[in-house]
Amino acid sequence: MRTQVGIIGAGPSGLLLSQLLHLQGIDTVVLERHSRDYVLGRIRAGVLEHGFADLMREAQVSDRMDAEGEIHDGFDIAYDGKRHRVDLKGLTGGNTVIVYGQTELTRDLYEGRDRMGGVVVHNAEDVTPHAFDGNGSPYLTYRLGEAVHRVDCDFIVGCDGFHGVSRTSIPKDVLKEFETVYPIGWLGVLSRTPPVSKELIYVNHERGFALCSLRSQVLSRYYVQCTLDDNVEDWSDDRFWAELIARLPADAAATIVTGPSIEKSIAPLRSYVAEPMRYRNLFLAGDAAHIVPPTGARGLNSAASDIYYLYHAMVDHYRKGDATGLDRYSERALARVWKGQRFSWWMTRLLHRFPDANDFDRRLQKTELDYLFSSKAAMRSLAENYVGLPF
Ligand code: FAD
Ligand code: PHB
Repeated sequence: MRTQVGIIGAGPSGLLLSQLLHLQGIDTVVLERHSRDYVLGRIRAGVLEHGFADLMREAQVSDRMDAEGEIHDGFDIAYDGKRHRVDLKGLTGGNTVIVYGQTELTRDLYEGRDRMGGVVVHNAEDVTPHAFDGNGSPYLTYRLGEAVHRVDCDFIVGCDGFHGVSRTSIPKDVLKEFETVYPIGWLGVLSRTPPVSKELIYVNHERGFALCSLRSQVLSRYYVQCTLDDNVEDWSDDRFWAELIARLPADAAATIVTGPSIEKSIAPLRSYVAEPMRYRNLFLAGDAAHIVPPTGARGLNSAASDIYYLYHAMVDHYRKGDATGLDRYSERALARVWKGQRFSWWMTRLLHRFPDANDFDRRLQKTELDYLFSSKAAMRSLAENYVGLPF
């Protein structure tokens, strides 16, 4: 096979890039390690910035998101039994977020690729990028059963998430890694129950963090902070609901509707950035290059901003022969990635109870919260980051 851009990974980053490039007449092939059902079975992000939504519109896959996604004007932070509203719309001069599940968004992107006859190869094993160091033409190999296939291309884009093959193919002496691992995790439950609140509630409670989120008016997504050695099997639904309720403010605890979990999983919390995001003819985008703890809802949105820069850079290269965007991709993408990192780290420190915190840390956290709730400037800074900084 011959294509212009060979993409590894059919998560949101890979599918969105493929669809956007296709609409500009640029050919792509996407290689995905898992099956389509597996990719669509992962329950992950739920909060989208408008910048992301605009890219979905440009990719002509936004109909369902625009019809079914919920616009949220704000959210609550609960602390010391009180709820404090973050008025996103009022504080940002009209900006909001969209609550629409990553699963649905990925499904929309797949359907977009199907309509356009886009090539997504599933169950591709041993995907390997070759000759991307500028000596010769890049190509990808992969295995389907016994047969090894080859895709020749101009560029390779690694959209293969944190555990992918792209980043680790870059020479060790080129890549600089920045990382913080937090001593806590999130235990998440999806349940077919009406959400306890119309808007999200982030809870800082002495038993640990909790989050009330949703996917629709009949589908709720809840999280509680857990320890790193917790096992999902040890968390029966009853235990989960009891722990969640113990952390909620009284009005929410009194009205929450519980039910059987449809999905239950534990995610560790990590901040990670790899620099640069380009090595010669290999580009990294999304979780392949950076990870944030989910607290600030930045992960998927940071992936989208990478795709925004890379898409425009590719179009300039193929349409105008202008390589500036490709040459500046890493620098531009990283400038925004780091702002998302800062915000996610800050929200994470603000809202969790850390097992290694000392009295000073605890008092500072309380002061940070008191300051936030009493200062419009501090609230505005939170809101500006949560709705997403401009691309
Ligand atoms: P991925 O979604 O990881 O996709 C990578 C793809 O590459 C996968 O399909 C994988 O199978 C494939 N792949 C991997 N290795 C290979 C290989 N060797 N060969 C071929 N294919 C390969 N973000 C937000 O913005 N807002 C939120 O509210 C939010 N909430 C979250 C909640 C949780 C519990 C978690 C875990 C994450 C959350 N995120 C959130 C983060 C968000 O889900 C990720 O940032 C997003 O999935 C990144 O998309 P991606 O396409 O870059 O990577
Ligand atoms: C979610 O709905 O899964 C979600 C929402 C907000 C976050 C993280 C996850 O900050």
